[in-house]
Amino acid sequence: MEDLKRLAGRAALREVESGMKIGLGTGSTVRHFLDALGEALAQGELRDLLGVPTSEATAARAHELGIPLQELHEVVPLDLAVDGADEVDPSLDLIKGLGGALLREKMVVQEARRFVVIADPGKMVRRLGTQAPLPVEVVPFGWRSHLTFFQVLGAQPRLRTRGESGEPFLTDNGNHVVDLTFPNGISDPRGLQESLRGRAGVVETGLFLDSAALVLVGTAGGSISRMERNP
Ligand code: 5RP
Repeated sequence: MEDLKRLAGRAALREVESGMKIGLGTGSTVRHFLDALGEALAQGELRDLLGVPTSEATAARAHELGIPLQELHEVVPLDLAVDGADEVDPSLDLIKGLGGALLREKMVVQEARRFVVIADPGKMVRRLGTQAPLPVEVVPFGWRSHLTFFQVLGAQPRLRTRGESGEPFLTDNGNHVVDLTFPNGISDPRGLQESLRGRAGVVETGLFLDSAALVLVGTAGGSISRMERNP
């Protein structure tokens, strides 16, 4: 799978042109994209790029690779955002956030003229929520008060914890994540997004709807499958 992630990550380099302002996603697939970007800059194949990282981890890696970084507000609108996904459905709607960076990822995507997703074939699903839980970022205050609400929406909620310590996982924004498992998948992603976002204390969800313009998937044969959103 790592080879297929590398294939997808490196393929995204073809979407980048010198002078672009780029949102840099988070995760193991994005690490391959960052490596390719760093190499292209070092070799002079690309120049004058500015990146906006979606996590402290991505910022640290980009720094190591010599990719210049900026604050989001300094460079909007972005020309491009490149990020991984946990699930991709046939209409290119996504679940993201198993890496815990969903809020910053969504803020970066909303400022990008074009959002390119890089993935391995294991991320492709017929229906969202059938393989991955849906991450929901919540403020720590009163987080348990949401559990019944999530259950009424048909989900089995579980607070994300850090390793074996049992301590709540903290996002880069100091929030908790509740992972929602839907036994039969998510039948109405838009309705669910509206219900979740309408609740005070819920900061953001990992549903990325109507945002991906292109999905690049590394395939076992060594080629790249390109799926573009219908205009
Ligand atoms: C992080 C994300 C990642 O893009 C997603 O979890 C995919 O990660 P990976 O490339 O490691 O499979 O949404 O918040």
